[in-house]
Amino acid sequence: MIRFEHVTKSYADGTTAVDDLSFEVAEGELVTLVGPSGCGKTTTMKMVNRLIEPTAGRIYLDGADISTIDPVELRRRIGYVIQQVGLFPHKTVLENTATVPHLLGWPRKKARDRAAELLDLVGLDPSQYGDRYPEQLSGGQRQRVGVARALAADPPVLLMDEPFGA
Ligand SMILES: Nc1ncnc2c1ncn2[C@@H]1O[C@H](COP(=O)(O)OP(=O)(O)OP(=O)(O)O)[C@@H](O)[C@H]1O
Ligand SMILES: [Mg+2]
Repeated sequence: MIRFEHVTKSYADGTTAVDDLSFEVAEGELVTLVGPSGCGKTTTMKMVNRLIEPTAGRIYLDGADISTIDPVELRRRIGYVIQQVGLFPHKTVLENTATVPHLLGWPRKKARDRAAELLDLVGLDPSQYGDRYPEQLSGGQRQRVGVARALAADPPVLLMDEPFGA
């Protein structure tokens, strides 16, 4: 499903964030990257959805070289929970969760129903939390909204940065 071939990411200041990394993830597999702070975990994940471009090597998704796939199109197939959660502060919990279904052009009702279903799944009652704004949630509740948002369109690939590894 995902294949890294000799992927390296280095920066102009001489930092090598990822050094000649090769691995393969099969469909249905759950893979965790474990290592000390600064070892390149976030960089590795961001290269999968092209938020960061490798300096060398190739990354394949379902056999296609991702450098040939339009980044926007690519990201719609990949749910991504970032390290700082990154909810939209001006959108409600329900609207945040429905972000990708909206982008994909789902009918409004279907997108909202799906968002409510996902909020329920992560333990947030949509009737209680759906109309709140992110600042009205605890840190852990925000993280759960981030997970619900990433799952909303049932993407084939899900990237979860810390603290979601736990
Ligand atoms: N723009 C940049 N220029 C130079 N070095 C960078 C840049 N961005 C990241 N780095 C370095 O790349 C390395 C890998 O960073 P990355 O964010 O992938 O680490 P991480 O494994 O996710 O760490 P953490 O567990 O702290 O989140 C770090 O040493 C970081 O300082
Ligand atoms: Mg990180």
